[in-house]
Amino acid sequence: MLVIVENDYDIMCQVAAKMIVDRLRKKPNLVLGLATGSTPLGLYKELIRYHREEGLDFSKVTTFNLDEYIGLPPTHNQSYAYFMQDHLFRHINISPEKIHIPQGMFGNISITAFETDPVVTDFCRWYEQEIATAGGIDIQILGIGGNGHIAFNEPGSSLGSRTRVKTLTKKTRIDNARFFSSMEEVPKYAITMGIGTIMEAREIILLANGPGKSWAVKTSIEGPVTAMCPASMLQMHRKSNVILDQAAASELSAEFIAYG
Ligand code: GLP
Repeated sequence: MLVIVENDYDIMCQVAAKMIVDRLRKKPNLVLGLATGSTPLGLYKELIRYHREEGLDFSKVTTFNLDEYIGLPPTHNQSYAYFMQDHLFRHINISPEKIHIPQGMFGNISITAFETDPVVTDFCRWYEQEIATAGGIDIQILGIGGNGHIAFNEPGSSLGSRTRVKTLTKKTRIDNARFFSSMEEVPKYAITMGIGTIMEAREIILLANGPGKSWAVKTSIEGPVTAMCPASMLQMHRKSNVILDQAAASELSAEFIAYG
């Protein structure tokens, strides 16, 4: 695990963008795993800047997003499909048919049947198959939840899990409530790549900033590998990079920090 601590969020994002740009210049048909949330916003701005100012070409890139809320249509301004269009895709020359985001709408399936309904389980299997058909994910971008979740793999998720439906924890719903007008509007379920799916990416870049992430960062990097902190599984990955600002790194022991 390479841990890089930068002075502030903007530099963190520049470092992450540079890593992706280097990989993309070497492999124009890169398969990129994408994340949502406030953390990668600066990274997406930087990638857009590279596209506009340096002509960085995304036309051969394939993308797979980590997760999506269940029950929000792609037109809902808090759906992750909307987020990706708004913050990245509409600003770069990516081909729409190369974009993959888990589906969040499944018609009239009862909420209690989501985990077992064949329409949903078939979709999850299809999503995994699409990743495999694309040749696997070259680089997966990750944020981290304040409780140590990655994508929507909440604490207690199987470390070998695949794409499936997860029930969101109260903490995650409270953390994400800031994007909705009321707590009741925050979805209770999501469809998410599993930890096993994420671990198959050839390289991982996890970004975290701010004091709200310091516990999750410390527990993931210095704690034992445990399903109770899903991001701790990155300790088992052969090529994971963790890029932090000072606040997110503030609880780490000094000897674990590699200054980049
Ligand atoms: C969300 C997403 C995660 C994200 C995390 C942190 O719920 N499912 O992919 O990494 O929570 O979000 P933020 O970056 O807004 O702190």
